[in-house]
Parts: sequence; C-alpha cells; structure tokens
Amino acid sequence: MKRCLTYLLAIPLALLLANSAQASVDLANGERINRNCALCHGIYGQGTPGRLSPRLAGLPKEYLVKATKEYVEGKRINPLMVEVAGLHHISDRDLHDWAAYMESLDLAIYPRFAIQHNMPGNPAVGERLFRDCRICHGRDGFGRDDKDAPPLALQHGEYLFQSIKMFQAKVRIHDDDPNDDTFDHFSDRDLFDLIAHIRVLGNQRVDRSARFEPPRLLPSRPAQVAAAPAPPAPQAGLQITDITQTVAQMELKPGVSIEDAISAMESKAIELNLRLVGEQRISQELEARGVETPYLSIFQFCNPMDAHVMVVANPIFSSYMPCRISLVEDPQGKMWLMMLNLDMLINSELLPPQVVDTAIRVNQQMLEVMVAGASGEF
Ligand code: HEC
Ligand code: HEC
Repeated sequence: MKRCLTYLLAIPLALLLANSAQASVDLANGERINRNCALCHGIYGQGTPGRLSPRLAGLPKEYLVKATKEYVEGKRINPLMVEVAGLHHISDRDLHDWAAYMESLDLAIYPRFAIQHNMPGNPAVGERLFRDCRICHGRDGFGRDDKDAPPLALQHGEYLFQSIKMFQAKVRIHDDDPNDDTFDHFSDRDLFDLIAHIRVLGNQRVDRSARFEPPRLLPSRPAQVAAAPAPPAPQAGLQITDITQTVAQMELKPGVSIEDAISAMESKAIELNLRLVGEQRISQELEARGVETPYLSIFQFCNPMDAHVMVVANPIFSSYMPCRISLVEDPQGKMWLMMLNLDMLINSELLPPQVVDTAIRVNQQMLEVMVAGASGEF
C-alpha cells in the first residue's frame, strides 16, 4: 500500500495535483464519490470486522477499478451495493478518481485501524501455508503489482475467509483463472491458520505512536445545515445529504406509488427478519384534522436479538432504536425515502468486533428495505 501518498494528502491539494505525475486525477472528487461507499465501507474505506464490509483503503487503484466493474457486470455478485451506490451510472472518470483516493488512504501504520477479529487459528501453522501465496501476494502480504495480486494483509479476516470459500465453490474466480486450484486442498482449519498469519503480517506495520489525521480535501460544510435533497439524478442510487453522513436518502423510482413502496418495504423486512414495530401516517392524521401538509409517514423496524447485542455492548445504542425509515414529499412533490445512517456507529473504535458486525448488518438491512421501497420491488 502506498504509504507516501498519505503524507502527500497533508499538503494542499493544488500543490499535490501540480506535482503529481497523475495530474488528471481529482482526489477531491474521489472523496465526494466515496460518500456513497462509506455507508458500508466506512468513511476512510476502513471496512469493519465481519463479512459485509471489506477494507478498501490502500488497495491498488487498478484492482479497485477492476473489482468494482466486476460487480456491475455481474461477475461478482452484490446487487445491493450496485443499487445503493448507483454503480450502474458511475462514469469511468469518477471511478478512477475514487480508486485513486482510496489507494492514497494507507491505514497500515495507525493502531486505530489494526485488524482485529475473533477467529480461531494458529499463525505459526498459517505462516507455512502462506508460502504458496507469497509469489503473488508478496512475502509481507501487501500484494504485488506485477502479479495484479492485491494486498491481503490489513483485510478483515472474516471477509478473507468468505472470499476463499467463494473461490473454493467457484462462485468467484481467483487469479483470473477459472481452473485455479489454489484452494482445493485447504480445509477450514487451514484457512483459519492462514488468516491468523495474514493478520500478523498486516499488523506488523502498525506504529504505536502514529495518530490518524483524516485527509481534508473537500471544504467542510456546516454539519447542521439540513441540505435540501440533492437535484435528482434519476435512478442514480443513493443521495447523501451532508458530509457527516447522517442521512441517507433515495427518491422513489418513476411509476412507484406510495402504496407500492410501503408494501415492498414490508415484504423485504419480513424476508430479512426485521419486525415492523411501528408505523405513523403523519400527513394522513393531519389531513384528517384539516391541516394541509406534504406527505409524511414513518416506519420503524427492529430485530430484538440485534437490539440486545448492541445494548449489552453499550446502552447508548438504545437511542438509535428502533431503526426508522421515513417516506416524505419534498417541495417539488417528489417522494423520498430517508434513514439515519448508522455509519457513525461502525466508525467507532471502542466497539467489540461482534457489535460492529451487528451494526453494519443492521445498517445494510435497512438499506435493503429502503432500496426495495424506492424500486417497488422485493
Ligand atoms: C450496501 C453496502 C455497500 C455499499 C454502499 C458499497 N459497497 Fe462495496 N462491498 C459491499 C460488500 C458487502 C462487499 C463484499 C462483497 C463480496 O463478498 O464480494 C463489497 C465489496 C467491494 C469491493 C471488493 C473489495 C475487494 O477486496 O475485492 C469493491 C472494490 C467495492 N465494494 C467498491 C465499492 C464502491 C466503489 C462503492 C461506492 C461507490 C461501494 N463499494 C459501496 C457493500 C457495499
Ligand atoms: C499465481 C498468483 C497467485 C497466487 C499463488 C495466489 N493468489 Fe490470491 N489472488 C491473485 C490475484 C491476481 C487476485 C485478484 C483476483 C481478482 O481480481 O479478483 C487474488 C485474489 C485473492 C483474494 C481476494 C482478495 C480480495 O480483496 O477480495 C484472496 C483472499 C486471495 N487471493 C488469497 C490467496 C491465498 C490465501 C493464496 C495462497 C494460498 C493465494 N491467494 C495465492 C493471485 C494469486
């Protein structure tokens, strides 16, 4: 991963761009695009422990572009991400700016981003198994550009495990070779050992005294300004209202009625085992009293077991519960679905991994409910 660029980020952007060999890359634009990814990958691309949020920070630009396109083309499967991030509509320019920005964020030295997971595994055994991987992924696990092999060090363990299981099941292709047999002889136990070693490799670069200074490329806007909904880019995916990532919103697609949206959200919630625990048709109530008002309904969802896990970790999470999605009409008469983004939870350093895993899963489930509502499909 390109550590030197992290320092470059500290100098003014204009200077950086003037000096950079890739003067055409717009890192500030990359940062802007990244807001749509941060919902699931974290604001610095740090990802979270668990299967649902790989780390993207510090991965090579070419790999990031290629991997992202594979989801759009359906070679790798993640329809929720493609829909929520509007990836069908992302321009090559934006994708390259984003990937350059992600590559420039090297988190390897910061204790705050050290990899932690609860998986079993013996790193000493894993070290021997890793000999098969070094030729492409590098002796230190930080990848080799000449082999197009991404770094594995600093990736979250559960995601690595899941990826290798996908390679074994041939639902994802390793090393661009459909006949690749690298993992055929690995048992789950071997994989745990391997991943334990990869974790040791990743955390080797951590410098206990390094303090993370977030890059500031975009001018910061006052966080409390509740921005008007962004100008509609039809079906372009999710809109993020402000830099603090507090609100995620999606416009209903053309032809989707209010009732379609509501029943799609209800069905999706049932599928995901989320209980609809509350429903308030506010505008309907007001209209019954003769008050003229834009449309507003609020839907509340909860999975009691997830709530339990989070509140045991820290009672403060009860204030986010139940998770809400509102269906609201803007001054132009357009209908929006909006929710609070739990990203602020999953960025926390203080949470044990199983809680972070729960938080990101709940966040992604709520996004799924919202996408179902916006598209009228489930
Ligand atoms: C709704 C959640 C969500 C959003 C939003 C999201 N992603 Fe993802 N992303 C995921 C998940 C889950 C995976 C892992 C999927 C898998 O196992 O293949 C992933 C994987 C990836 C990978 C592959 C990483 C690797 O190591 O191979 C790339 C690249 C990626 N996402 C790019 C993006 C970009 C670019 C955006 C924003 C424009 C974005 N994602 C937004 C959930 C999301
Ligand atoms: C001959 C070269 C080669 C060898 C040997 C190799 N890999 Fe890979 N590996 C690659 C390439 C190339 C990719 C990227 C493929 C892609 O674009 O999806 C990759 C991708 C991966 C990924 C996915 C990373 C991500 O971010 O999603 C994992 C996990 C992985 N390799 C693990 C291993 C392990 C563990 C070994 C050793 C047992 C190994 N590889 C050996 C070339 C190799």
